[in-house]
Amino acid sequence: MQGDLERILFDEGAIHQRLDELAATITRDYQERELTVIAILNGSLIFAADLLRRIPIPLRLDCLNVASYHGGTKPSNAPVVGQINLRDLESRHVLILDDILDSGMTLAAVCNTITAAKPLTVRTCVLLEKTKTTSRPIKADYIGFKIADEFVIGYGLDYMERYRNLRYIGVLRHDLIAETKA
Ligand code: IMP
Ligand code: MG
Repeated sequence: MQGDLERILFDEGAIHQRLDELAATITRDYQERELTVIAILNGSLIFAADLLRRIPIPLRLDCLNVASYHGGTKPSNAPVVGQINLRDLESRHVLILDDILDSGMTLAAVCNTITAAKPLTVRTCVLLEKTKTTSRPIKADYIGFKIADEFVIGYGLDYMERYRNLRYIGVLRHDLIAETKA
């Protein structure tokens, strides 16, 4: 699989070092708060597993299935938010985890769904944010790394459901991307 990469952006050591920092900040911010983490699947699965084990405060974990890409590298306009059990979010502080903030459509759709359940607070945490100039409907409160506008894979991120199990994050070779022309 490594041959399918243009280059590696963040190796395992760099990711784990950044997770230590992110986790320390989140731990400090949520001391004495009733924290519910909502991880957006499948992309944030590995990120969430590694991040949450670095956060030594009581928390509840829920997972949410959201499909924003229907195959390929271009998001569809309408992310499909799956089932979530919105049990007693009213007394909770919610932290939503996602793998990457691109157009922001996915996170905005999830935030709207969560906000409707009236939690005390809602914040977002993403492993990656693409530093595009286009304005987004939402911003992330916690960001692992900012990256250029390239298609990346690994550490949970996929291309056509492949590469999620890479231990690092890298840029997919351009010739492997089958562009879907609108
Ligand atoms: P958004 O709704 O455009 O912000 O897209 C967010 C979702 O699209 C992420 O949760 C990813 O699943 C996917 N995505 C966006 N950019 C990339 C990328 O560079 N590589 C892999 N998946 C991506
Ligand atoms: Mg994906």
